[in-house]
Amino acid sequence: MAETSDSAPHSALVLGIETSCDETAAAVVARDDTGRGRILSNVVLSQFDKHALYGGVVPEIAARAHTESLDRLVKAALEGADVGLDDLSGVAAATGPGLIGGLIVGATTAKALALAARKPFLAVNHLEAHALTVGLTDQLRPPYLMLLVSGGHTQLLLVEAVGRYRRLATTIDDALGEAFDKTAKLLGLPMPGGPAVEKWALAGNGTRFPLPRPMKGREDPHFSFAGLKTAVRHAAMHEAPLSEKTIADLCASFQAAVCDSVSDRVRHAMRAVITNFPDKAHRPFVVAGGVAANKALRQTLVEVANEYDFSFHAPPLELCGDNGVMIAWAGAERLSQGKSDMLDAPARPRWPLDSDAPKAIGAGVKA
Ligand code: KG4
Ligand code: ZN
Repeated sequence: MAETSDSAPHSALVLGIETSCDETAAAVVARDDTGRGRILSNVVLSQFDKHALYGGVVPEIAARAHTESLDRLVKAALEGADVGLDDLSGVAAATGPGLIGGLIVGATTAKALALAARKPFLAVNHLEAHALTVGLTDQLRPPYLMLLVSGGHTQLLLVEAVGRYRRLATTIDDALGEAFDKTAKLLGLPMPGGPAVEKWALAGNGTRFPLPRPMKGREDPHFSFAGLKTAVRHAAMHEAPLSEKTIADLCASFQAAVCDSVSDRVRHAMRAVITNFPDKAHRPFVVAGGVAANKALRQTLVEVANEYDFSFHAPPLELCGDNGVMIAWAGAERLSQGKSDMLDAPARPRWPLDSDAPKAIGAGVKA
């Protein structure tokens, strides 16, 4: 049972459930009235082994796997936090964007728990959850400039307030995580591709293959990675059969091109929004999402932030990928604004953070 003393600021306790892709996760976080958060439990179960045979996430298999393990994970999260359902202030689930089957599993479970315990239900946008994690880990409040890089999205956003986002740029083809995953696959590396490419790149020569830097120098603010991935494919076909040295050099060259292209886009956005941050002492730049775990990219972005007098923020590595903590935290933020959701809130495969942003040609659901 969670205890609170009279002198401690009142804490909201929120259970968060994440099932939008191939991680089943549950967590409990506390948020006090001053906006400070604490992680009470965090359990994540990856499904990589279930999808490995197919070379990518199979939606039907993902949904079934969430169904099989979610009850157990919720129980573990509550026990780990030493709280019961009655102690909670709300139950949150990612209801989009993501794979519809998985979203329905998580949302339905959260709604049932909320109904049974007579607690508010919180329908959380998965992208918003990535975007707000630094509020928990760094006590960073908006406004800030953010690069969101995951398996399904690549966007630059101005986080103006909790619940208010302005999209500055998006990918016009592949998301960055998707480009890492496809590159890994074509080089015969295991899933998940991002960490595999990063590991191989450590032993490689990033200057051996002069790969393209998509969009570099363009006035148009968007990202593109499809051409880079194709260039890796052509280089790999030319070098076949691939030695370990060549695989490492291709990974390092790909990662160098990614860092170069992304940093150019981030510089472009920093120049565009610098007037939004007249106080040099408070000019925060955040990177979040699964690809934010990439150390080479993090290091590159630290340097770009320094160059433009932005402070650099990123969740710790274990909170970059999908997790229940970020869902619980985003739910707690909604709750602190007096918001909650109806039990008929739908699962939303597409749910842009900035619904007013103009369509970017080719972006599709990634916009
Ligand atoms: O945020 P996330 O866990 O799930 C989505 O919301 O999509 O991001 C997953 C993506 C995958 O494409 C994965 O390969 C990539 O993040 N990723 C990485 C690294 N760790 C995960 N990409 C590059 N380097 C990494 N270390
Ligand atoms: Zn994610």
